[in-house]
Amino acid sequence: MTLPAHVRLVEVGPRDGLQNEKQAIDVDDKVRLVDDLSAAGLSYIEVGSFVSPKWVPQMAGSETVFARIKQQENTVYAALAPNLRGFESAVAAGVREVAVFAAASEAFSQKNINCSIRESLERFVPVMDAAKAQGVRVRGYVSCVLGCPYEGEVAAEQVAWVSKELFDMGCYEISLGDTIGTGTAGASRRLFEVVAAAGIERSKLAGHFHDTYGQALSNIYASLLEGISVFDSSVAGLGGCPYAKGATGNVATEDVLYMLNGLGIDTGIDLDLLIKAGQRICDVLGKTNGSRVAKARLGASH
Ligand code: HMG
Ligand code: MG
Repeated sequence: MTLPAHVRLVEVGPRDGLQNEKQAIDVDDKVRLVDDLSAAGLSYIEVGSFVSPKWVPQMAGSETVFARIKQQENTVYAALAPNLRGFESAVAAGVREVAVFAAASEAFSQKNINCSIRESLERFVPVMDAAKAQGVRVRGYVSCVLGCPYEGEVAAEQVAWVSKELFDMGCYEISLGDTIGTGTAGASRRLFEVVAAAGIERSKLAGHFHDTYGQALSNIYASLLEGISVFDSSVAGLGGCPYAKGATGNVATEDVLYMLNGLGIDTGIDLDLLIKAGQRICDVLGKTNGSRVAKARLGASH
């Protein structure tokens, strides 16, 4: 398999990253982060979530963030919507692309969205109908594709089933989430093989690797070899998962970009500007930068 000439990175730091922070974050800082990411050349940024503020308090006020960011013409600014209410709030905030999220494990589905996998799929039907009527694109997430914090092993066939349901419902792309970062290169390859064999073209699949076990970059490389060319990542490796204890953030966007640059794969992203964006939000949060590349480049100054 030859490597793709171009990869699309889906920046999830403002959502998957910040949703996990306990401290209050000013809207100004959230807006600045998104604007910095746009300036660095990210073509797809997940800005926030329209979920219950009782479940994920940090994402409350996503509509204000959307109202204030400077939207670039060729950049997609997306949000999570768990139900029709979330979808309607997102659209009212001017969002033109949303993501619904299901899980491959029953226990995680209950902890994350308080319903079974089947119930979640049923809940997405009216979202898909409304989205279709209003010309809003919907991306689908499947969590716990390479392991569940409550159930342990998750069968690739189960991931394929949930993915196909979301795809057949009208999601244009399915992002497979290694929520707890236990996946390995071999397991990642096999997973994409099984999901593709269920009838979803590889060009419609994306990889979403948390880096808890330090495997994310190798999983991405393995996925590239499997014909996958869309990956989710989080600037400065921000994040974790509120419903997956111990999970660290997504693989750092800077580190993925450095690897892709080394492979001669085009992304349209400026590494120096991206590093600045990541360090700025780390300074605001008082956090150590989770990107090895950023740490190396910024050296002793941080
Ligand atoms: P529920 O309690 O079963 O639902 O929550 P409900 O309909 O009974 O509503 C409960 C309360 O939430 C009510 O308010 C509703 O009005 C309100 P109350 O009467 O108690 O004051 N509510 C809402 N408020 C704002 N926006 C909405 C909304 N819907 C209901 N859209 C629900 C079900 C899905 C709402 C809840 O479980 C929820 O919001 N969960 C969100 C969980 C979440 O955001 N998790 C993190 C994102 S997923 C992730 O990180 C994984 C991913 O990165 C991939 C990977 O790594 O695997 C994507
Ligand atoms: Mg995630």
